[in-house]
Amino acid sequence: MAESVAAIYPGSFDPVTNGHLDIIERGRRMFSRVIVAVLVNAAKEPLFSVQERLQMLAKVTAGWHNVEIDTFDGLLVNFAQRRGAQVILRGIRAVTDYEYEFQMALMNRRLAPGIETVFIFPAEAYSYLSSSLVKEVSSLGGSVGGLVPASVEESLLQKIRTKNRG
Ligand code: PNS
Repeated sequence: MAESVAAIYPGSFDPVTNGHLDIIERGRRMFSRVIVAVLVNAAKEPLFSVQERLQMLAKVTAGWHNVEIDTFDGLLVNFAQRRGAQVILRGIRAVTDYEYEFQMALMNRRLAPGIETVFIFPAEAYSYLSSSLVKEVSSLGGSVGGLVPASVEESLLQKIRTKNRG
């Protein structure tokens, strides 16, 4: 095993949830560095701009010295290689995540055999949590307190107010 192992934690983070933070926290105890990588060119229409997502992530991970935030475009394995990461870190929730994660992990291994995907289960409390559900509940007036950091909840409310006005 290499002495210093860096992991990439990729995703859309639209927005970051407490489930994501749980994975980052577990990951940063296992690896020397965790690079949280926001996908720039997602096909899906995001609620938050890349800049807003980066700002939210930077704020909620500010106290963690071995966590960095970055963006990437194109193939994840190319980005991982550029950043010198040996691991792709992914959170896995219910069994429904398995098929998609399995396909991605093996495709990434085919593309870059030197990079391993490592899966971590989040705390039980977050096993049903997703950014999509958080956005839906919040846009319909429900509370997402405890599911996202307070600063993200505030950004969600602001974004929804702006959208409703426009
Ligand atoms: O937050 P998500 O939607 O679960 O993240 C998906 C992500 C960003 C990990 C995935 O879409 C990705 O890696 N995209 C980059 C393009 C790529 O490398 N595709 C081949 C993966 S097998």
